[in-house]
Amino acid sequence: MTESSRSAGWAAYYQQLRDRPPRKTLLAALDAFGDAPPDALVMDLGCGDGRDVIEELRRGWKVIAVDAEPEALRQLQARNLPEGCDVTPVNARLEEVPIPLGVRLVNSSFAMPLCEPKAFHRTWERIREALPPGGRFSGQWYGPRDSWAGRPGMTFVSREEALGLLQGFEVEMFGEEEADGVTPRGNAKHWHIFHIVAKKL
Ligand SMILES: C[S@@+](CC[C@H](N)C(=O)[O-])C[C@H]1O[C@@H](n2cnc3c(N)ncnc32)[C@H](O)[C@@H]1O
Repeated sequence: MTESSRSAGWAAYYQQLRDRPPRKTLLAALDAFGDAPPDALVMDLGCGDGRDVIEELRRGWKVIAVDAEPEALRQLQARNLPEGCDVTPVNARLEEVPIPLGVRLVNSSFAMPLCEPKAFHRTWERIREALPPGGRFSGQWYGPRDSWAGRPGMTFVSREEALGLLQGFEVEMFGEEEADGVTPRGNAKHWHIFHIVAKKL
């Protein structure tokens, strides 16, 4: 796939999912924090056009919004953002972007599996190290029965591997979803997804 066809694909994805509500994993993580702490900083890795970022800002969090696609960040900034909000858009790959100390929540909805395995595992290590005790991760990982399993440049982990990676965390949500469906772009697909919210111990 060329870079321009990939970008066109993501632009169509943002268009298709525009105005969908925030992900349930993000909502559960934000609810678990209660009122945003005064130093509340969330890093949203693979933020897309801001489906979750809008909610993070609405709840008073400062947001570093990271996406590899410039179009995602353009669309995020064109949204009706809450007045006085603090958002820093960063055009970068999630496996390369530094995770600042002080981050309390790392949210990555449907984005971490879009890295090849070495990058996925290195990114997870960096998230683990950056989060303080009481900090949280929310997001999705893909399981081995997903019909995209085996695609180059993506990562799939078994239930056991996923739970192993979450050692050192209190797992607050671990929803396993497996179903036939269609992608937002209209292609038939078998989904195998882990929906995760975890608090660093
Ligand atoms: C499936 S979309 C999810 C967007 C948003 N998080 C949501 O839940 O609607 C995946 C997003 O991750 C971005 N992405 C894919 N691989 C990436 C990478 N290696 N680094 C940063 N962003 C990436 C894509 O550009 C896209 O915006």
